[in-house]
Amino acid sequence: MNLVKRSNEMKDFFNKVVDIDYDEKHSKMIKAKEKIVDFLPSDIENIIDLGSGTGLQLIKLYKVYPNVKTTAIDISDGMLKKLYERHISDNITIINKSFFEYEFGKDIDAVISTQALHHFEPSDKEILYKKVYDCLKEHGVFVIEDYFAIDNFDERKGFEDYRNLVKGIDSHYDTPLTIPHEIDILKKSGFSDVEHYAGDNYNILISKKKFLNR
Ligand SMILES: C[S@@+](CC[C@H](N)C(=O)[O-])C[C@H]1O[C@@H](n2cnc3c(N)ncnc32)[C@H](O)[C@@H]1O
Repeated sequence: MNLVKRSNEMKDFFNKVVDIDYDEKHSKMIKAKEKIVDFLPSDIENIIDLGSGTGLQLIKLYKVYPNVKTTAIDISDGMLKKLYERHISDNITIINKSFFEYEFGKDIDAVISTQALHHFEPSDKEILYKKVYDCLKEHGVFVIEDYFAIDNFDERKGFEDYRNLVKGIDSHYDTPLTIPHEIDILKKSGFSDVEHYAGDNYNILISKKKFLNR
């Protein structure tokens, strides 16, 4: 899988669906978006949102943390236009780039990502997660809410279908990993402590840089 090609496929897909039914479809995930906020440090000052889209997650974040400074990164200019037009907060900096390319900086309290990472190869995720690990403060946290494969067969099938374009060249392909595989990658990237929270119809992985009591 070519990472630049894959990222551009995401850009084209989300630029297309943003004005069709994106917000309507994803508003159904609102419980997950509320829950994610519970896993953030209560003294949070700054946060990065990987694949922020139109800001459905940020609406929930700003209800609880109105003063937090957010860097919202997304490759789709169409999705970001909608985020901008929402005027959720003046504390949001919008970056129209691939999160694989953008430099995250240092001393970040939390990185979050909702429904944005289930399209990439394990090797690309490992590089991305290392970058996340490095940008976090010592007590920092990385919270992922995403769609995961139910088993190894399901995971393999996603990648095979994408490689063979079984649904046709213009189709959208999901290539999710299983939760254990995703956790392995997070641990390989440096996170010593990864917790899995299973909601009604969603899954959240909470990765901490360091055990707080050690
Ligand atoms: C399903 S949407 C989720 C949006 C938002 N997080 C939410 O929960 O509503 C996935 C988003 O990830 C973005 N995305 C996918 N690959 C990306 C990449 N490589 N860099 C930056 N954004 C990316 C897409 O453009 C899209 O806006």
